Amino acid sequence: MHNKKIVLALMALSFWSAQAQKRIQEVEVLLNKMTIEEKIGQLNLLTPGGGVATGEVVSKDVESKIKNGQVGGLFGVSGPEKVRIAQEIAVNNSRLGIPLLIGSDVIHGYKTTYPIPLGLSSSWDMELVKQAAQMAAKEATADGINWNFSPMVDIARDPRWGRISEGAGEDPYLGSKIAEAMVKGYQGDDLSATHTMLACVKHFALYGASEAGRDYHTVDMSKIKMFNQYLPPYEAAIRAGAASVMSSFNDVDGVPASGNSWLLTDLLRDRWGFGGFVVSDYTSVNEMIAHGLGDLQAVSALALKAGLDMDMVGEGFQTTLKKSLDQGKVTETDITNACRRVLEAKYLSGLFDDPYRYLDPQRAKKDILAEDNRALARKLATHSFVLLKNHNNILPLKKAGKIALVGPLADSRENMLGTWAPTGDFNLAVTILEGFKNVGAGAIIQFAKGANISDDTDFAKNVNALGERIVIDERSSETMLKEAVDLTNTSDVVVAVVGEASEMSGESSSRTDISIPESQKRLIRALVDTGKPVVLVLMSGRPLTISEELDMPVSILQVWHPGVEAGNAIADVVFGDYNPSGKLTATWPINVGQIPIYHSAKVTGRPAPESGEFQKFRSNYLDAPNTPLLPFGYGLSYTTFEYSDLRLSKKEIGRGESISATVTVKNTGDHTGEEVVQLYLRDMVRSITPPKRQLKGFQKIKLKKGERKEVTITLTPDDLKFYDAQLEFVSEPGEFKIFVGTDSNADLSESFILR
Ligand code: BGC
Repeated sequence: MHNKKIVLALMALSFWSAQAQKRIQEVEVLLNKMTIEEKIGQLNLLTPGGGVATGEVVSKDVESKIKNGQVGGLFGVSGPEKVRIAQEIAVNNSRLGIPLLIGSDVIHGYKTTYPIPLGLSSSWDMELVKQAAQMAAKEATADGINWNFSPMVDIARDPRWGRISEGAGEDPYLGSKIAEAMVKGYQGDDLSATHTMLACVKHFALYGASEAGRDYHTVDMSKIKMFNQYLPPYEAAIRAGAASVMSSFNDVDGVPASGNSWLLTDLLRDRWGFGGFVVSDYTSVNEMIAHGLGDLQAVSALALKAGLDMDMVGEGFQTTLKKSLDQGKVTETDITNACRRVLEAKYLSGLFDDPYRYLDPQRAKKDILAEDNRALARKLATHSFVLLKNHNNILPLKKAGKIALVGPLADSRENMLGTWAPTGDFNLAVTILEGFKNVGAGAIIQFAKGANISDDTDFAKNVNALGERIVIDERSSETMLKEAVDLTNTSDVVVAVVGEASEMSGESSSRTDISIPESQKRLIRALVDTGKPVVLVLMSGRPLTISEELDMPVSILQVWHPGVEAGNAIADVVFGDYNPSGKLTATWPINVGQIPIYHSAKVTGRPAPESGEFQKFRSNYLDAPNTPLLPFGYGLSYTTFEYSDLRLSKKEIGRGESISATVTVKNTGDHTGEEVVQLYLRDMVRSITPPKRQLKGFQKIKLKKGERKEVTITLTPDDLKFYDAQLEFVSEPGEFKIFVGTDSNADLSESFILR
């Protein structure tokens, strides 16, 4: 058996190296035929417009540039017919006929939009995450796309930052697992297969740590923090085989990522062994001029020399690299190396074998928005919801009686998909009102809007920059409020769908106040005053500050922005067809002043008293506790789980040994349910101040009513390691403490010694 495995591995290796050999040879043959202009040409990624442009410029004269061999890839073009036109121009009308990479931002589904990434991460279900990415790849490739600007793996610990919605939250361990699942889902094990696409890990690096939560802002961070807290998900994506990387807008140690040779070469290529290509973010090379690093020629040369291979939209490479070569500021080898990496990616995609391989019009009809895809999107959404509170166990609701469905998001198709869904179509989305009628048939469901998402017209104008998401009603606030209250008074229960419009989070959508807008708070207060049972279905692209609402006698189901099946999925959970199992992947603060707040913070030399009471000359606030409103990993179920009998496989281990923790989990409630069993680790003594606790393992299990299960989570030697002052990945002897439980406050604990 063992021998057979070795033989198979050797066969795979020799097959792989034969393939690699062929690729290297073919790319070299092509490179030898190319002029320097043609090599520079491959380094440009253009967008002809018509899609969503996230910068101020879109590319001009794209057709003639493709003919002239000045384009390596396009994005913002889709559909087999359109992509074929572009590909034919490249193949038939440019001198060497090199096909184009066709990119796209497929962030949470292509046409079948599923929950925003922060929501998807709340499922803590890696198999589902992978299936989601596979489905996105199948749809996107059916529409001619062969390269995806995803996964976004930026650790985010500041919910003011709108792009927290696009990632997997605050934790490097969970973030790494999700990064890996997404890369594997997009890329499969054969990039030339027609249902897989190249992944692009972004935004390299540290983009989620923008100062003050403001987008595109500066980042400053110690290397210790980078290596231990922020870099692991990028590295995990690269280890999983990600074919490309996108540089971020921010600076890292004073040098913008797009021109940072420590980042793009020393770390990415030399230390991590990345062999793919690096693309800039949208005009991020040009933006180094504004950062203060010189003119377009200088910043373009800086980017190339740093290890950036492809220039997105800016065309600084196209317009200045030849001049820099003539002046000796870059070398022909620099240009050839970048070109080689781009060509290798095309080779891996199978585009040299058949430039039209992703352009089968029959597939587009069959694979896009297929019924199975919508079913998966609905499942993904139900699994992403987090039950924050279940007052008097009012949830799940019966499919009977009179239900008042109110709130500005209850019948708001345009807000269901969430941010960064440019390839989706919100007209296809199911509203909550429709979902309730589909799933809750048997109940009488009546709707009243009750409030605007916000009454603030200036704010609404900003949010609506790319399309109307906050619709300010012609009726007065008082009229709307009265209608909702009257309806509630004549109903058995009220469900209020409240929170953020889809464009209140995402790119360029930071907020300094992350509470529910006042217009909706007023509605919620009035509903509570009726004395009827109140359920809040809360939509948002970020953690919100909801202390007031959490204190009220209400139940709260957090649903993020659920995607095309929003209404059906919400109804599935509200009416109990699915028991919620999501857990928060980013801490919810009490107020903005606590930010950044995350579960793996350090202890400090003057920790606050355990009692939570203020103590002078301790690390605490005069006006708020240190603890958050809702901790990382938190989420309830319609049933309850009891944890007991935590035990370790050993009391002492040597370096290189693993250790297992086993715990008994029992379903003590009245429903079948799923639970994410979480393991946190504290390194009690080490040379670098340790986090209070860090997630190091989890398992999602399903238990029937009354059922009990033993859950074992194993820590490998690497799980005990960290980056020390020399940035070496080491473990140090001493005591470790393991905590296991339902969230990051888990209190069952056991200790062991590493010799
Ligand atoms: C975003 C990227 C995105 C790119 C192309 C940029 O503004 O930061 O995440 O991939 O635009 O659409």
